[in-house]
Amino acid sequence: MSGEGDTTLKSICYKPGSLQLLDQRKLPLETTYLEIRDAADGWSAIQEMVVRGAPAIAIAAALSLAVEVSNFSGFDGSSAEAVTFLENKLDYLVSSRPTAVNLADAALKLKQVIANALASSAAEPNSIFKAYIEAAENMLEDDVASNKAIGTFGSSLLRQQAKNPDKLSVLTHCNTGSLATAGYGTALGVIRALHTQGVLERAYCTETRPFNQGSRLTAFELVHEKIPATLIADSAAAALMKDGRVDGVIVGADRVASNGDTANKIGTYSLALCAKHHGIPFYVAAPLTSVDLSLSSGKEIVIEERTAKELLNTHGGLGERIAAPGISVWNPAFDVTPAELIAGIITEKGVITKNANDAFDISSFAKKVTGN
Ligand code: MRU
Repeated sequence: MSGEGDTTLKSICYKPGSLQLLDQRKLPLETTYLEIRDAADGWSAIQEMVVRGAPAIAIAAALSLAVEVSNFSGFDGSSAEAVTFLENKLDYLVSSRPTAVNLADAALKLKQVIANALASSAAEPNSIFKAYIEAAENMLEDDVASNKAIGTFGSSLLRQQAKNPDKLSVLTHCNTGSLATAGYGTALGVIRALHTQGVLERAYCTETRPFNQGSRLTAFELVHEKIPATLIADSAAAALMKDGRVDGVIVGADRVASNGDTANKIGTYSLALCAKHHGIPFYVAAPLTSVDLSLSSGKEIVIEERTAKELLNTHGGLGERIAAPGISVWNPAFDVTPAELIAGIITEKGVITKNANDAFDISSFAKKVTGN
């Protein structure tokens, strides 16, 4: 599935009973899809970064369990046991990576779907599995529509706030494109929309050390889409901003706390501080599934720490050793950008801006747009 103005490779290839994930560790040099047969394959693919990016992780996890149950030759248990089976698998999938909330949010919604199926008068294991599969498939469909809406809201916001709404340049970090979602992308979707409107002068993307999602994946998508783009070292961002080369910075999110504090790829916080210093607006683009209203601030967000190998070896840990023997390593995969550094949070339902107290009221926004 790909969106308008999005011909990039699909990260998730699904048809009923079959799921293949693009092995993003091999990009941009090799295009290899891995067959995912069950939740255990899904868990490993997420943990090992075959698939990554908050929305893509959630969808891949949900679909890995959908193919597992689709391919059952029979389920030897009661309806209640079918529900317990699915719930346990969902809990297991959620344990694959801790920071992005989209996966936990998807699991919660899928548990509600199966609880409703169990409560229906026609409940039997097959009808519960069918309800689960349909809901997981819908998540794949809904994500593209949601990203396109983010692209529309985001591009108009960036244009309103740029010096010249018909010619602007933006900086992004990590990979938030087609590869990180079901298609089109979030922050990269906004860049895609600006390009489609003919107003994007240039997109700058960081390398995004240590895993290089920027140089390997975002650069790949930008080149593939023929979007004018330049790759910079993460450490060149301050100089880029000082030179006045960007009108805005736009990034994705893995978890947004109710006050707007945002966990995203390591290095995001530095970019936000630099942007503040240079008077450049800093935006977060994310679907509402990335918002965690149960957390009052970013202090409560669990930050995943990944293997030292990602720093010790080339190619985000997949290549040969480069670091000096004996050195110890701290490798947080994400950091938290305080809300005070964020100019607006672009969602599929509109832009969350700050109130008169200079604070985000995400809870009221969510209530208004979802009616819950
Ligand atoms: O470790 P990753 O590659 O999964 O981290 C991805 C990011 O930090 C993205 O910015 C975020 O998940 C949003 S993807 C639309």
